[in-house]
Formats: sequence, structure tokens, C-alpha cells
Amino acid sequence: MIKVTDIAYGRFQAPDLDLMEKFLIDFGMVRSARTDTALYMRGTDSAHHIHVTELGERKFLGIAFYAASEEDLHKIAQAEGASPVENIGEPGGGKRVRLTDPAGFQVDVVYGIETLDTLPVANQITLNRGSDHRRKGDLVRLEKGPAPVKRCGHVVLNVDEPRVCEDWYRAHFGLIPSDELYEGDEDNVLFSFNRIDRGKEYVDHHVLLTVPRTPKGLGHLAFEVEDINAVYLGHEWLKSKGYKHSWGIGRHIYGSQIFDYWYDPFDFRVEHWTDGDLLNADTPANRVSVENALQVQWGTGPESRLE
Ligand SMILES: [Fe+2]
Repeated sequence: MIKVTDIAYGRFQAPDLDLMEKFLIDFGMVRSARTDTALYMRGTDSAHHIHVTELGERKFLGIAFYAASEEDLHKIAQAEGASPVENIGEPGGGKRVRLTDPAGFQVDVVYGIETLDTLPVANQITLNRGSDHRRKGDLVRLEKGPAPVKRCGHVVLNVDEPRVCEDWYRAHFGLIPSDELYEGDEDNVLFSFNRIDRGKEYVDHHVLLTVPRTPKGLGHLAFEVEDINAVYLGHEWLKSKGYKHSWGIGRHIYGSQIFDYWYDPFDFRVEHWTDGDLLNADTPANRVSVENALQVQWGTGPESRLE
């Protein structure tokens, strides 16, 4: 129906906004707005918010995608079960259409939310490669602290029927498959990594993955950081604060990101990642074995992953 341009934010519900805010600051976000009933956190890029928490019992509510135009909001409002185009009564404003995916998660398609000035990013250094020395005369002196989060990059949802879900996301938002994971026979595809279709423009290897896992809910929500130094500094910072680690640091196979997974105080899993693969609409989909889905190119493997 339409082609969305990126993932915008994840929407959570939690009983203690102070606790969530404290964690997210340590995770590398900055408060954008706070009301009596909700918390809006941003990264260093210009999005007004990339993480929303509404006050209430612990629950993952859903995600949002950016529409390319207001016209596209009117198009997607024609989808079965969609809300009309409505004003967003939240900080940042804008308009949205609300849908519910086949697994029951709320999906906001948004347009016109206010953007903010970008924020400075600590520890931006030029990396010297063995074959290409670009940092000449400058010393590496990294400041300890949270890894500044730039943007929201992808979501993994645990659902009963991933193929039904991914078909729905592709049909409504123009997502296209990057890697389709099969078990046994190549035609026995279980689930897939899906990316945004921005034509010739390069985008992240995946924005959405729905996997057959229980209980139904968030697998994780992932946020991009500057580079491998940020991943490690962020890891050390979160560890020093006593937060619960999930998995990492390692380098994925599908998408190739350098990753590190943590749990927030409400047991929602969030990821820092950097240096992922970029594809455009010309890159064909691959069929790959599900056995490698959680394997790594280096670093801690799936055996250390807390569920
Ligand atoms: Fe991820």
C-alpha cells in the first residue's frame, strides 16, 4: 500500500517512568519530553523521540514507522482495521494512522513529527585500518560514559505466526526480504529479515524480524551507536551501573552488526549496534539456513544469550 521510510520508535508501558528514564540515560538516550503519564526519549540524530514509555503495567505496545508523505497516511488509512488520519496528541505533534498487526501489536504510521537539532556525539574518532591510516597526529583519548544512541534501527517481535506477520508488514509498508531463513528444505522458510525499500538508496539490512517465539512480545528493539568504541564503552558503563546483560559483544552473521544486548529494568531487551550491512532495493533476497541465525562471526555466541 505504501513504502515507509524508516522505523521511528518503540512504544512501551511501564509502572515507573523515573526508573525507565534513568536506565535509558545510562543506555545513551536523552530526555526529549516528559508528561505526567509518558516519557519520550531521543538520540543524537534529529528525531523528536525514538523510545516512548507510557505509565501503566509492564507491556510492550508496539512500534512506529515514518510515512514518506501525508498523502501516504491517507492511503494507509484505507487499510482494513486502520484508524483515520489523526493528530498525535503527544509532544512533537504530527499526524498518524494506527493499525494493529496480525500478532496484536500497535503500529503507528507517522508523518510530520517535529524534528530537533542534532546533539554532539562524544568520542567521534577516525579509525586507522591496517591498510588505510587516516588518523594522523591525533591521539585516541576516549571519555567514559554512556554510548550515545543515534537512532532506532530495527525491531524483533516474538509472534505465533511469523510468516503471516511478515506478509502483512510487506503488504502494508513495502518492506522487502533480505535473508529468508529455512529449516531443512530450502522452501521451508520459517521467518525472514526485512528491510525498507527506498529504491537505489542504501538502508539497513533489516528493520523488522518476526520470529516464532513465546511468549508473544518484544524480542528486542535496536539502536545504532557511533562505532565499536561506543559499543564497548557503553557496555562498560551499563555493567558498572549493575544492569542485566543479555548477549554480546559480538558480530552477527545476518546484517553483520557489532552488537551488545541489555535488559532494561522491566526486562525489555534493547540492543546497541554499529557497522551493519547496507543494501538497496537491487540486492536480491537470500535463502539461508536457520542454523546460523544466532551464530556470530566473532565474539560471544548464542550459548551465552540470556532468554
Ligand atoms: Fe538486533
